Amino acid sequence: MQFDRRAFLATLGTAAAITAMPSEVLADALEHHMIESLDAETSANEMKVRLGAGLLFGGALPSGKAGEELKKLEPMPEKPTLVDFFKYRFAPATAKHVLQSATDAMKKGEKEELILACLLHDVVLNLIKVDHGWWGAQMMEPYVSEKVSWGIRYHQALRFYPDPTVGYEYPESYNQIFGKDYVPPLYIKRAYEYARNHKSYMDARMITVHDLYAFDPTVKVSIDPFIDIIGRHFNQPKEGLGYDNSPVAHMWRTLIFPDTPL
Ligand SMILES: [Fe+2]
Ligand SMILES: [Fe+2]
Repeated sequence: MQFDRRAFLATLGTAAAITAMPSEVLADALEHHMIESLDAETSANEMKVRLGAGLLFGGALPSGKAGEELKKLEPMPEKPTLVDFFKYRFAPATAKHVLQSATDAMKKGEKEELILACLLHDVVLNLIKVDHGWWGAQMMEPYVSEKVSWGIRYHQALRFYPDPTVGYEYPESYNQIFGKDYVPPLYIKRAYEYARNHKSYMDARMITVHDLYAFDPTVKVSIDPFIDIIGRHFNQPKEGLGYDNSPVAHMWRTLIFPDTPL
């Protein structure tokens, strides 16, 4: 540990006061200062990455546990499609989760747009986690119907509020992640109230319902059953995602090149 003499002396007062101090008092003060700096150093080092950082950037899992190891990423095709992103950038954890959720929606006979919304609802977690509903909706907006992006945006707020009419209960896992007495911030409560009274409410609510059946690490899932739905409801740009000059192309590029320093 580096010792900052000037910072230490500044904690003691004027030069005259320091000269007048008995040496054992000075020694005690020094020890105290060193311990305090050590504490500061330890707590600063505990978190290697902000909790809101995407999984591709070494972000922690929602449980707060360390995320996946940073693997060498495979280069992406020149004109990447949504399916390429599933293959090269959303796998494994995030892809596994959204594929399970979309599979559940498909099994229960949901409409194709809702199945697509389930498939896309959390993929932005590999880019950024904080406010993922809003980020995720924005990232998809140019390529999907309003139903799909609206649902993705508001599923984030809705998941904190039960709706017994569709069998949605407050997830037990949130007590572990957010703590037992967690009260969502005001902007989340407002977003919930807005969505609750909106005609598209169920577009977002049903994402949270299928979200509950999507955390089994042993289940084998594949993108194959969803290729046709993607073809019908995801407007794939011919230049490739990231190169189509859309207002969100940079988000896709950031996933393509997450190691670019600037
Ligand atoms: Fe989510
Ligand atoms: Fe989810």
